[in-house]
Amino acid sequence: MENPYLPYPVRIDEVITETEDRNLKTFRLVFLNPEDENRSKFKDIIVVYGARSPGLLLYRNELAEWEKRDDLAMHITVDGTDDPDWKYNVGFVPTITEQKITSSENAIAIVCGPPIMIKFTQPVLEKLGFPPDRIILSLEMRMKCGIGICGRCNIGDQYVCKDGPVFSLAKLKNMPPEY
Ligand code: FES
Repeated sequence: MENPYLPYPVRIDEVITETEDRNLKTFRLVFLNPEDENRSKFKDIIVVYGARSPGLLLYRNELAEWEKRDDLAMHITVDGTDDPDWKYNVGFVPTITEQKITSSENAIAIVCGPPIMIKFTQPVLEKLGFPPDRIILSLEMRMKCGIGICGRCNIGDQYVCKDGPVFSLAKLKNMPPEY
Protein backbone atom coordinates (compact mmCIF):
# COMPACT_ATOMS: atom_id res chain seq x y z
CA MET A 1 0.00 0.00 0.00
CA GLU A 2 1.05 3.61 -0.31
CA ASN A 3 1.52 4.94 3.16
CA PRO A 4 1.97 8.70 3.54
CA TYR A 5 4.16 8.17 6.58
CA LEU A 6 6.58 5.70 5.05
CA PRO A 7 9.23 6.52 2.47
CA TYR A 8 8.39 3.51 0.30
CA PRO A 9 5.38 1.40 -0.74
CA VAL A 10 4.92 -1.52 1.60
CA ARG A 11 2.54 -4.41 1.90
CA ILE A 12 1.38 -4.57 5.47
CA ASP A 13 0.16 -7.89 6.76
CA GLU A 14 -0.34 -6.72 10.25
CA VAL A 15 -1.14 -3.42 11.84
CA ILE A 16 -0.56 -3.02 15.53
CA THR A 17 -2.27 -0.08 17.14
CA GLU A 18 -1.87 1.09 20.67
CA THR A 19 -4.10 3.79 21.93
CA GLU A 20 -5.67 5.25 25.04
CA ASP A 21 -9.02 6.75 25.95
CA ARG A 22 -10.35 9.20 23.38
CA ASN A 23 -7.54 8.55 20.91
CA LEU A 24 -9.38 5.52 19.61
CA LYS A 25 -11.26 7.99 17.42
CA THR A 26 -8.08 8.40 15.39
CA PHE A 27 -7.97 4.73 14.44
CA ARG A 28 -11.62 3.95 14.30
CA LEU A 29 -12.30 5.60 10.98
CA VAL A 30 -9.17 4.34 9.30
CA PHE A 31 -9.06 0.70 10.29
CA LEU A 32 -12.06 -0.41 12.22
CA ASN A 33 -14.74 0.32 9.70
CA PRO A 34 -15.06 -2.77 7.48
CA GLU A 35 -16.60 -0.56 4.78
CA ASP A 36 -13.59 1.72 4.62
CA GLU A 37 -11.80 1.56 1.27
CA ASN A 38 -8.43 1.34 3.03
CA ARG A 39 -9.35 -1.72 5.04
CA SER A 40 -8.65 -4.12 2.19
CA LYS A 41 -5.04 -2.91 2.03
CA PHE A 42 -4.25 -4.55 5.33
CA LYS A 43 -4.48 -8.11 6.51
CA ASP A 44 -4.76 -8.52 10.25
CA ILE A 45 -5.19 -5.73 12.73
CA ILE A 46 -4.26 -6.01 16.36
CA VAL A 47 -5.59 -3.28 18.61
CA VAL A 48 -4.38 -2.62 22.12
CA TYR A 49 -6.82 -0.11 23.52
CA GLY A 50 -6.44 1.20 27.04
CA ALA A 51 -8.20 3.59 29.37
CA ARG A 52 -7.74 4.51 32.98
CA SER A 53 -11.03 2.89 33.95
CA PRO A 54 -13.91 1.07 32.21
CA GLY A 55 -16.05 4.21 32.27
CA LEU A 56 -13.53 6.05 30.09
CA LEU A 57 -13.59 3.54 27.25
CA LEU A 58 -15.15 4.95 24.10
CA TYR A 59 -17.45 3.09 21.71
CA ARG A 60 -18.31 0.47 24.30
CA ASN A 61 -21.20 -0.83 22.19
CA GLU A 62 -18.97 -1.19 19.16
CA LEU A 63 -16.14 -2.84 21.07
CA ALA A 64 -18.27 -5.92 21.57
CA GLU A 65 -18.96 -6.07 17.82
CA TRP A 66 -15.33 -5.54 16.91
CA GLU A 67 -14.35 -8.39 19.16
CA LYS A 68 -16.43 -10.74 17.01
CA ARG A 69 -14.64 -9.85 13.77
CA ASP A 70 -12.17 -12.39 12.41
CA ASP A 71 -9.82 -9.74 11.02
CA LEU A 72 -9.40 -7.91 14.31
CA ALA A 73 -7.71 -8.90 17.53
CA MET A 74 -8.90 -6.54 20.22
CA HIS A 75 -6.99 -6.28 23.49
CA ILE A 76 -8.90 -3.94 25.75
CA THR A 77 -7.33 -2.92 29.02
CA VAL A 78 -7.80 -0.53 31.91
CA ASP A 79 -5.27 0.73 34.40
CA GLY A 80 -7.46 -0.55 37.20
CA THR A 81 -11.02 -1.43 38.16
CA ASP A 82 -12.99 -2.77 41.08
CA ASP A 83 -15.69 -4.09 38.77
CA PRO A 84 -16.01 -7.82 39.56
CA ASP A 85 -17.57 -8.42 36.12
CA TRP A 86 -14.70 -6.83 34.17
CA LYS A 87 -13.73 -9.44 31.58
CA TYR A 88 -10.85 -7.74 29.80
CA ASN A 89 -7.26 -6.97 30.73
CA VAL A 90 -5.98 -4.91 33.63
CA GLY A 91 -2.64 -3.25 33.00
CA PHE A 92 -0.98 -0.38 31.19
CA VAL A 93 -0.87 -0.32 27.39
CA PRO A 94 2.90 -0.96 27.16
CA THR A 95 2.56 -4.00 29.42
CA ILE A 96 -0.35 -5.44 27.47
CA THR A 97 1.49 -4.74 24.22
CA GLU A 98 4.46 -6.73 25.46
CA GLN A 99 2.18 -9.59 26.46
CA LYS A 100 0.00 -9.72 23.36
CA ILE A 101 2.23 -8.74 20.44
CA THR A 102 4.55 -11.57 19.51
CA SER A 103 6.01 -10.51 16.17
CA SER A 104 6.95 -7.43 14.21
CA GLU A 105 7.35 -9.28 10.92
CA ASN A 106 5.81 -7.42 7.99
CA ALA A 107 3.92 -5.25 10.41
CA ILE A 108 3.61 -1.61 11.21
CA ALA A 109 2.86 -0.16 14.64
CA ILE A 110 0.80 2.97 15.09
CA VAL A 111 0.66 4.63 18.49
CA CYS A 112 -1.63 7.41 19.59
CA GLY A 113 -2.16 8.61 23.11
CA PRO A 114 -0.71 10.65 25.95
CA PRO A 115 3.05 11.29 25.92
CA ILE A 116 3.66 9.03 28.91
CA MET A 117 2.04 6.08 27.14
CA ILE A 118 4.03 6.75 23.98
CA LYS A 119 7.24 7.07 25.99
CA PHE A 120 6.83 3.61 27.53
CA THR A 121 5.35 1.87 24.49
CA GLN A 122 8.10 2.91 22.09
CA PRO A 123 10.85 0.78 23.72
CA VAL A 124 8.50 -2.21 23.86
CA LEU A 125 7.97 -1.97 20.11
CA GLU A 126 11.68 -1.57 19.45
CA LYS A 127 12.37 -4.63 21.61
CA LEU A 128 9.83 -6.54 19.53
CA GLY A 129 11.89 -5.69 16.46
CA PHE A 130 9.90 -2.93 14.81
CA PRO A 131 12.36 -0.73 12.85
CA PRO A 132 12.04 3.02 13.52
CA ASP A 133 10.44 3.68 10.14
CA ARG A 134 7.61 1.26 10.99
CA ILE A 135 6.75 2.82 14.32
CA ILE A 136 4.34 5.65 13.65
CA LEU A 137 3.59 8.00 16.53
CA SER A 138 0.78 10.50 16.64
CA LEU A 139 1.79 13.35 18.94
CA GLU A 140 -1.43 15.33 18.73
CA MET A 141 -1.74 15.55 22.50
CA ARG A 142 1.20 17.96 22.50
CA MET A 143 -0.85 20.48 20.57
CA LYS A 144 -2.51 23.47 22.26
CA CYS A 145 -3.79 26.05 19.77
CA GLY A 146 -3.38 23.63 16.86
CA ILE A 147 -2.83 26.40 14.32
CA GLY A 148 0.81 27.41 14.73
CA ILE A 149 0.32 30.45 16.95
CA CYS A 150 1.03 29.55 20.58
CA GLY A 151 4.46 28.02 20.04
CA ARG A 152 3.91 25.34 22.67
CA CYS A 153 4.02 22.18 20.57
CA ASN A 154 7.47 22.38 19.05
CA ILE A 155 10.09 19.64 19.11
CA GLY A 156 13.26 21.39 18.06
CA ASP A 157 12.37 23.36 14.95
CA GLN A 158 9.36 21.17 14.13
CA TYR A 159 5.85 22.18 15.11
CA VAL A 160 3.66 19.20 15.87
CA CYS A 161 0.57 21.07 14.72
CA LYS A 162 2.05 22.20 11.41
CA ASP A 163 4.69 19.56 10.61
CA GLY A 164 2.87 16.57 12.13
CA PRO A 165 1.11 15.53 14.22
CA VAL A 166 2.16 12.12 12.89
CA PHE A 167 5.87 11.29 12.85
CA SER A 168 7.77 8.09 12.29
CA LEU A 169 10.18 7.17 15.05
CA ALA A 170 12.91 7.32 12.40
CA LYS A 171 12.21 11.01 11.97
CA LEU A 172 11.87 11.65 15.69
CA LYS A 173 15.26 10.09 16.33
CA ASN A 174 16.77 12.99 14.38
CA MET A 175 14.97 15.52 16.55
CA PRO A 176 15.57 16.57 20.18
CA PRO A 177 14.19 13.94 22.63
CA GLU A 178 11.41 16.21 23.81
CA TYR A 179 8.33 14.27 22.81
S1 FES B 1 -0.20 23.96 18.92
FE1 FES B 1 0.16 26.07 19.04
S2 FES B 1 1.86 26.34 17.76
FE2 FES B 1 1.41 24.23 17.57
